[in-house]
This record gives sequence, C-alpha cells and structure tokens, in this order.
Amino acid sequence: MRILSGIKPSGTLHIGNYLGMIKPMVESQKRGELFCFIANMHSQTTLFDSNKLYQNTVDALVDLLALGIDPDRSVFWVQSDVPEVAELTWYLNNVCPVGLLQRCHAYKDAVSRDIPANAGLFGYPVLMAADILMYQSNLVPVGKDQKQHVEVTRDIAIKFNQTYGEAFTLPDAEISDAVAVIPGIDGQKMSKSYDNVIDIFAPEKKLRKKVMAIVTDSTPVEEPKDPEKSVIYGIYRLFADETRAGEMASRMRTGGYGYGDAKKELFGLLWEYFSPQRKRREEILASMDYIDEVRKKGADKARSIGISTLEKVRRLTGTSR
Ligand code: ADP
Ligand code: TRP
Repeated sequence: MRILSGIKPSGTLHIGNYLGMIKPMVESQKRGELFCFIANMHSQTTLFDSNKLYQNTVDALVDLLALGIDPDRSVFWVQSDVPEVAELTWYLNNVCPVGLLQRCHAYKDAVSRDIPANAGLFGYPVLMAADILMYQSNLVPVGKDQKQHVEVTRDIAIKFNQTYGEAFTLPDAEISDAVAVIPGIDGQKMSKSYDNVIDIFAPEKKLRKKVMAIVTDSTPVEEPKDPEKSVIYGIYRLFADETRAGEMASRMRTGGYGYGDAKKELFGLLWEYFSPQRKRREEILASMDYIDEVRKKGADKARSIGISTLEKVRRLTGTSR
C-alpha cells in the first residue's frame, strides 16, 4: 500500500502539528510505503517572500528527518525538485471542470475574506491531484480541511481515465479524527494563527517560558484541582505514560500541589520527550552536505517512479508516441 503525505512548509512546527500529523506519519512508515514531500509549490500561492520560502523548506526537511522520517525506507522529497509535477498539472487542468474548483471550500474562504485570489490559488487542488496521481497513491491521510481536495483528485482521475484511458489509481482519503485537538497555552486549539503554540524545537529558556505562560484558574496551592479542567494536565497526559499521567492527576486532586509545580513537570517531560530528536536535529544541521544529499536522492527516487506515470500520460494525450 502506498501512503502519500504532503506538508506545506509554513515555519516552525509545534507540538499540535507533531501529535496531529507528524507522529502518525512517522508511524505509517511501518504499515506501508510512505511517500512524503514538502509542498513548497503550494506555499507559493500565498507566500511571496523568496528567502522565507527557501528557509521554511529547508527547516521542514531538517525537522521531519529529526522527527523520524527515514529517507532510506521512505520516499522523501521537496515538491519543486520534481518539476514534472507541474507538467502533469497541465494535463489534469484540461480535464478539470471549472465548477469543481469553484466549489472548493479553501478557495471560497479566500474569496469571502477578500483575499485577491490568483490563478494558482484557484488551481491549488489540481496541483494537489498531480502530487497524488503521479505516484499512483492508494491512501492520503489528511485533516478534515483537505478531504474535499482528495475528492476532487478522484473526480479528476476518473475524468482523465474516461477521456484518455486508464492512467491513474483512485486514491482514498484517510481522515483521522481520533487524534485529539491539542490545546494551546491559552486553552484554545493550538495553532500558529492564534499565537498560542509550544514549538517542538524551542530552546530551553523559551520552552520553559511558554510552558510557564499556560493559562490556569486562581485555585490556591493548598486546594484540590480538577485535572480534566487543566490545560497543563491536558497537554501532559498526551506525552506522559499512563502511570506518570495518573500521578499528576492524583496530586492535583489531593491539593497541596500548585499549578507552578505542574508546569515545571510538564516542561521537564517535554524537554525529555524531544531530547533524542533535538540531538538528531543538531547532528543534521551540522552537515549541510547530508541535507543536500537527502534532498537529491529523494528527488531522484520520486522522479524515477513518477516519470512512468507521466510518460503514459504524454502518450495517452498525444504529446508523445
Ligand atoms: P496551524 O493551525 O498551526 O496553522 P496547520 O493548519 O499548518 O497548523 O496544521 C498542519 C497539521 O497539523 C494539520 O493537518 C493537523 O493535523 C495538525 N494540527 C495542527 N494543530 C493541531 C492541534 N492543535 N491539534 C492536533 N493537530 C493539529
Ligand atoms: N494541501 C495540503 C495542506 O494544506 C498539502 C498538500 C499538498 C498535500 N499536496 C498534497 C496533502 C498531496 C496530501 C497530498 O495541508
């Protein structure tokens, strides 16, 4: 089974991204053949700062390697390093009804928020379809917001197969709502847009400061507290094993245990949890040659597989024999 995941490089990764997306992706390397790429061309529909785009892309590459993507076992590449995907997008554009794209929520949202929509943003789902179809993917794990884009991919694939003959495997979306929404330091959903995130790789001082800034109510130290209502415990239990989580919960219920103490424990746990990955990240960052090599090998591997789909499509559509 071929599992394909695309991640837009949008700056620093937080612990919500980790539990909601990266950890399941790293684990999926055990159940199938993972194709994982950094969707920097998709970021270009809204990001126009070239230095930022370039740096975000390298950062995403390094962070994902440090967090467990294995470039020997999986196919791991940067989208624009296989520019043939843009050629496939063109063939798909020509069988994609405009109405299909006009109905896409992501595009409609942008229009309703008066964001001047460029043709790239309008065609975003077609590039995404090319990502998925080029590698004959079976399964595409995505958040709820991307489900419609995978449906559009299927519609485009069906239309192409009917028009020209069988070229594409029809992919299925895998929606994981089993994963809890991780709260941010203000208690709302953790999200870059709410400025309430805890970064995975924040330096020690900054991480401690973030954890110490988590909202609490004003229950005094001596009094019992309800762990289920505490954001500190809400995050702690997602990273601690059952025994450790149970210990914090019972200390809160007993009283004489302050929120400050709980925050210190949470900081300690997060620092310890990501310590091997942090070490790995330092090692990777120390070797630009290694990063370049992974990037090149990944693109070569992806291209060698994607090109057979593309050659078939060229023949079927009549641009080659
Ligand atoms: P942000 O909201 O910070 O902009 P993104 O929308 O870029 O994050 O999220 C990328 C992926 O990370 C999402 O598909 C989702 O699966 C996961 N994710 C983000 N925030 C959370 C969260 N608070 N809890 C669980 N998963 C999350
Ligand atoms: N659009 C996805 C997102 O915003 C990223 C993405 C691009 C993607 N191409 C993909 C996801 C192909 C899965 C498959 O999160």
